[in-house]
Amino acid sequence: MKILVTGGAGYIGSHVIRQLIAAGHEPIALDDLSTGKIERLGDTPLVQMDLASADAANQVVEAIKKYSIEGVIHLAARKSVGESVDRPEYYYQQNINSVTNLLVAMRETKVMNMVFSSSAATYGSPDVDQVNEDYLARPINPYGETKLVGEWMMADAAKAWGLKVVSLRYFNVAGAGFDDLADTAVANLIPIAFNAIKNNQPIQVFGTDWPTSDGSCVRDYIHVLDLADAHIAALDYLNEDNREHSIFNVGTGKGSSVLAVIDTIHKVIGKDFAVDLVARRPGDPASLSADVSRINETLGWTAKQTLKDIVSSHYRATSN
Ligand code: UFG
Repeated sequence: MKILVTGGAGYIGSHVIRQLIAAGHEPIALDDLSTGKIERLGDTPLVQMDLASADAANQVVEAIKKYSIEGVIHLAARKSVGESVDRPEYYYQQNINSVTNLLVAMRETKVMNMVFSSSAATYGSPDVDQVNEDYLARPINPYGETKLVGEWMMADAAKAWGLKVVSLRYFNVAGAGFDDLADTAVANLIPIAFNAIKNNQPIQVFGTDWPTSDGSCVRDYIHVLDLADAHIAALDYLNEDNREHSIFNVGTGKGSSVLAVIDTIHKVIGKDFAVDLVARRPGDPASLSADVSRINETLGWTAKQTLKDIVSSHYRATSN
């Protein structure tokens, strides 16, 4: 299929594009290149535009016609939790306008297949060890709110005009599937830790008094290549004529603490580095891991890569 991948020049989007090509699809990237990098795209065509701009729906209609697009994977979004707390209106403007414009263009051109990039941030701070998709979504920051509203918009489009749509709630995405596609943003734990080691700075652990087994926060780290493959499985599922908005967690089902991640980094690089135990970071849930039964059973998708694979692939890609 000819698939428009919004955010295609980003860290995750570029992995999705590589896996689409491997699965025999024809991806076309759409990206404003504000954080995306054109070198990640290789021969994949790029529609360079801001999806949240006033004229975006018309531009998307043109792109859909030009490339005979049959489905959309929508990843383009602002995704920094902290920034969303400081600039909520910007997050709503960017993340909601882009969904609106895309849906307007898809309805007009009768493109009926959509995979939407959502987030475990929609859950907020659940009081269960493993959260499933039926758990009440109660986001605790504007970023998570915009992703939840995006899901509602998808569900409404499915009801109103038969959009076939899957929302994937990503847990903590990390690692590199290809050495040229590493996460260079230094915005999440693993890249931050490697960056600290490189600069001879201590890695900070935000809180060791959480109600978890070792006191540090627990997250479900998912390899970006496994995540990319979940998009291919979701596209296949849409082709089975499903007409309801379906939501799937994308994680491993296994939580790892910050201290466990640091221990894995230690084993992978085989040398000592400094670690600082500091105060909790405001807004962090203690523990967030996925119940992955639904995606396992319905899409037949399971994460294959371990935390060690994630850490070593990031290390290899950023050392090269
Ligand atoms: N952490 C540290 N030290 C650091 C950085 C992070 O201890 O220097 C801890 C955090 O407190 C947290 C864990 O490492 O417990 C992971 O933090 P990240 O900032 O890497 O990721 P978050 O869990 O806050 O959020 C990420 C994505 C969100 C997504 C969420 C879903 O950034 O977009 O996962 O679980 F919604």
